[in-house]
Amino acid sequence: MEAVTPGEVSVQDEAVDKSTFKECNQIAFYRRQKLLHPGKSLYRALLDSVTLSDENVKFQIIHEENKVLLQVEICEIEGNIFRLKIDEAAPVRARYKVPDVLIKEPTTQRLSISQKEAGILVLSSVNENYKLQVTANPFQIELQSKGETVLSMNSNGLLYFEHLQSPPSARKPTAENKGEAASDSSKEKQEDLGLWQEKFGNFLDIKAHGPSSVGMDFSLHGFDHVYGIPQHTEALLLKNTSDGDAYRLYNLDIFGHKIHDKIGIYGSVPLLLAHKPNRTSGIFWLNSSETLVDISSKAVAEHMPSRSAAETAKQRAVPLTDVRWMSESGIIDVFLLMGPTAFDTFKQFAQLTGTQALPPLFSLGYHQCRWNYEDEQDVKTVDAGFDEHDIPYDVIWLDIEHTDGKRYFTWDKKKFQNPRKMQEHLRKKKRKLVIIVDPHIKVDPTYTLYSQAKDKGYFVKDRNGQDFEGICWPGSSCYLDFTNPEVRKWYADQFAFKTYKESTNILFVWNDMNEPSVFKGAELTMQKDAVHYNNWEHREVHNLYGFYQQMATAEGLIRRSSGKERPFVLTRSFFAGSQKYGAVWTGDNTAEWGYLKISIPMLLTISLAGISFCGADVGGFIGDPEPELLVRWYQAGAYQPFFRGHSNMESKRREPWLFGEKNTQIIREAIRERYVLLPYLYTLFYRAHTAAEPVMRFFSRDQEETCYKSSSGLLRRGRTVLQGLAHQASALLVDCDRKAHPSLLC
Ligand code: NOJ
Repeated sequence: MEAVTPGEVSVQDEAVDKSTFKECNQIAFYRRQKLLHPGKSLYRALLDSVTLSDENVKFQIIHEENKVLLQVEICEIEGNIFRLKIDEAAPVRARYKVPDVLIKEPTTQRLSISQKEAGILVLSSVNENYKLQVTANPFQIELQSKGETVLSMNSNGLLYFEHLQSPPSARKPTAENKGEAASDSSKEKQEDLGLWQEKFGNFLDIKAHGPSSVGMDFSLHGFDHVYGIPQHTEALLLKNTSDGDAYRLYNLDIFGHKIHDKIGIYGSVPLLLAHKPNRTSGIFWLNSSETLVDISSKAVAEHMPSRSAAETAKQRAVPLTDVRWMSESGIIDVFLLMGPTAFDTFKQFAQLTGTQALPPLFSLGYHQCRWNYEDEQDVKTVDAGFDEHDIPYDVIWLDIEHTDGKRYFTWDKKKFQNPRKMQEHLRKKKRKLVIIVDPHIKVDPTYTLYSQAKDKGYFVKDRNGQDFEGICWPGSSCYLDFTNPEVRKWYADQFAFKTYKESTNILFVWNDMNEPSVFKGAELTMQKDAVHYNNWEHREVHNLYGFYQQMATAEGLIRRSSGKERPFVLTRSFFAGSQKYGAVWTGDNTAEWGYLKISIPMLLTISLAGISFCGADVGGFIGDPEPELLVRWYQAGAYQPFFRGHSNMESKRREPWLFGEKNTQIIREAIRERYVLLPYLYTLFYRAHTAAEPVMRFFSRDQEETCYKSSSGLLRRGRTVLQGLAHQASALLVDCDRKAHPSLLC
């Protein structure tokens, strides 16, 4: 099949056809979990089974109806972190446990048992500051810090664990499964529950291993502000989901996505932070399958055990936030980050998943992108335009059209006859080039990358064991299986200068479409029943696909310089830990005021989930910004961590000097301001890299003053920056409110 031009592709034609994507109630595991209502949990802890070692405390819990045993493991990790794992005690088949996201096996500390009687087990942390109180019947766990209950688990009885079973056809009727088999036989019910297969439109997902969903509730005591779990086009403060859809974490390519929507786009970080005046805590739910998060806050009577009856009558109402996590598959593996400050939780998350990679200095400058800069002459003209208009910039980008028919790692020889010379031209001005490398590989036996990968068996397979084929930019495409370490090594080697023809050390990389995007696939992504390395279904690893591509690409760039140079890789899809490999951006936004406004909470949310190097397309990717919007977007983007102007193929050209002298002057000033602040920004990135402090953050006046008093020079400069930022931000919000729909409050 020939390369697809955007006009031919339905995904590009229709900005979000809602019916392409699922609403929560169209997701079978969500419907199944929602049948379990808050109440008394059917799980009971078997405290006789408790074992204690240097690493953990283990015991079993049993489901009172199906009698399936689950193994619970609790550990304390150095630095005020607790980990709770729940897996089947004797699964018929191993369940997926997310590899490669934790930077190392966390260092545990020995918990001690301070009470084990009357159906209660109390565990104490090494420093005795924390206590975990496990109640046997119903099973629940309460985590206390110096007597204050911070969070409790399964207190609403929503622990949910579907044990793996052999398919109904292979099961011999037994006394226990007779009832199950009989009810399973109701076709309608089966279909509705989506246990062994699930339909969505014309798509059928066949579940070879049956239902495997897991879930649990957490109550956050005294908290009514929760943040995190990117990526959604939503406000910073997470909203109550009781009346509508849950927040969805499922990486999807949604062209023309709407704002204020809880559907997942492009990337996922399953980290939620809760904040109250004297404490910040985090819940990191390490699961890479599709995940939904329900949030509800309420006021409850303050719990004060030692109070007299009269005092109890005057009880205060305190907030309580319930968070319910539901995943399609895998195990329950959750880290409780106990802060107590927000900066402590950032460090704790980084201790587990790594800090922001220190970017090469050039990548903090301004980037000029467009789909597409057509040919070498176009590149030279745009490059010269910056000099003519005296606007600093560091990097020019080439989108998919620079390749030979969307065969990545190749050049369109008509348009780019001498890419090396073009790079030398840029190098002379100390500028860089970024080119796009997507994960789909054109099915073409004459394309070396394809034939090699095919021969080596490096593509994701369909459920019948054939290479999975889907449609993307090149037409029929196969998808590299980046979950396989051997494939990642081979892919990294493709960036070697001798292999990647005409590449030089000023060329860096952009990974796009790596959710992965599959045009005409269910929800425009890969079938969940596709099969990866070690026979894991795509459903288990979906949210990790882009993470792995960026990992392999960054490794390739490090290796091509024999470990001497820092890489720069931008990715659209991401997961917890992606910060180790480079930068992310918020994908296909629209040239409207509301999108400029939402870019700020979206970037703050990504930042507090550990990924500091993030940005949104300046100007808005889709459509044509009015000049005032473009100018305002430059003024905002200049203060955001990753600063790139980018536009769609159908958008009019919008290099900074195309909107009249006055606007050129304002944009010039904004970009120059960025360059003035570069040493400061570089230092902030150093702090992100070494101390996990987010680059983009809210600063209260008090904090600002403290910084100012406690230091000189750089921080004083920082204060000016922050004032500048605050000034810009308030001016901007006023503008966004004036221009956008007034109800679009961040
Ligand atoms: C989708 C990306 O989000 C966009 O930035 C890019 O220009 C197009 N793909 C074409 O590669």
